[in-house]
Amino acid sequence: MDRTSRIPGFYNLSIEERRSKIAEFAGLTPEEVELLSKEGNLNLEIADRMVENVIGTMAYPFSVALNFLIDGKEYVIPMVIEETSVVAAASNAAKMTRSKGGIFTEATDPVMIGQVQLTKINDPFSARMKILEHKEEILKLANDQDPVLVKFGGGAKDLEVRVLESPIGPMVVTHLLVDVRDAMGANAVNTMCEAVAPFIEKITGGKVYLRIISNLADRRLVRARTTVAKEELGGEEAVDAIVTAWALAACDPYRAATHNKGIMNGVVAVALATGQDHRAIEAGAHAYAARTGRYLPLSVWEKDKNGDLVGTLEMPMAVGIVGGATKTHPVAKIAIKILGVKTAVELARIMGAVGLAQNLAALRALALEGIQAGHMRLHARNIAIMAGATGDLIDKVAEQMVKEGKIRFDRAQELIREFTEKK
Ligand code: MEV
Repeated sequence: MDRTSRIPGFYNLSIEERRSKIAEFAGLTPEEVELLSKEGNLNLEIADRMVENVIGTMAYPFSVALNFLIDGKEYVIPMVIEETSVVAAASNAAKMTRSKGGIFTEATDPVMIGQVQLTKINDPFSARMKILEHKEEILKLANDQDPVLVKFGGGAKDLEVRVLESPIGPMVVTHLLVDVRDAMGANAVNTMCEAVAPFIEKITGGKVYLRIISNLADRRLVRARTTVAKEELGGEEAVDAIVTAWALAACDPYRAATHNKGIMNGVVAVALATGQDHRAIEAGAHAYAARTGRYLPLSVWEKDKNGDLVGTLEMPMAVGIVGGATKTHPVAKIAIKILGVKTAVELARIMGAVGLAQNLAALRALALEGIQAGHMRLHARNIAIMAGATGDLIDKVAEQMVKEGKIRFDRAQELIREFTEKK
């Protein structure tokens, strides 16, 4: 029989039944089925409630990055990631920031944007005004949806209305600015957008289509800053090398994408560990990087008047500590406990700091390991010359010493003897 991915009622089957259907479809061995059915620290019952069509769970390494001193407080950073070196790099970079006080952060209020798309309007500018004239009623309608959020100081705080030229004519897009406090905010914001839409239609005579959060969370920003003493990096030349590495990202989107990917290595690893919607964070980061019309790095690296390296980062950070997987995944709860964060803003600040440290580690490795290797070769050539090598022999001896990691006068002499005897 031809195999088919059309399996009616799959959703309603038990996890075990689903697994055997898929085993049949893909020809899984009993060992593979057994492995899929293994329960780890996310039990299948919870997994099954989180998403649809669950047939198992999958484990990733759960690590911790050390040495983070953020706003004067010690943090151990839980990270979930499949890539080697990211955790070690974050720890190393965090260590380098400590002598100048660590990483300092700042964040805006946790304000998310909800969009309401209004179409079929002949007079979009007058519709815009009508919406603004009814601002208080619209905000009240929105806030009536979430009295708990309002009680905790959050809720819809303001609105903005934009007239956009689209490929199918003008549109009037209302932005609800909602302080979502400790939530990621998608649910609260989407509910509010849906609630105000009929009223917006009524006062404008238009037709609403989309009512959804924007992941370009440019009202929910985190900022991080650090100074790295030049001695930590091996001198002012190293500081210059890192600034030069950053400068390429600042003028070239091909490099900026990789530069920002390095930042997201850290940010996403913490997002995964703490059960965040990491796609929302990624979408926000990249859209923010491109906000000027040109894709830019999320960080800036400069040299201060002492010759030390100064790094700053600014990016959206839509994270929550209530609701979603943060509350349902038992390991995410442990990650939050390891961090010791009490608010979503604090979590956002830590993630900004981790992003900056991760970026520092990458730039240092890229810009300096090149230099270090170069230095080593240069050093080895000098030793070879001192030991009596001439002509082609200089590079041959130097290369061999670098390869062995033994850049010494006596080794150079030995190698000169070996190479000349061979001749
Ligand atoms: C690799 O995961 C991340 C880096 O490519 C980041 C960068 O190039 O800045 C090392």
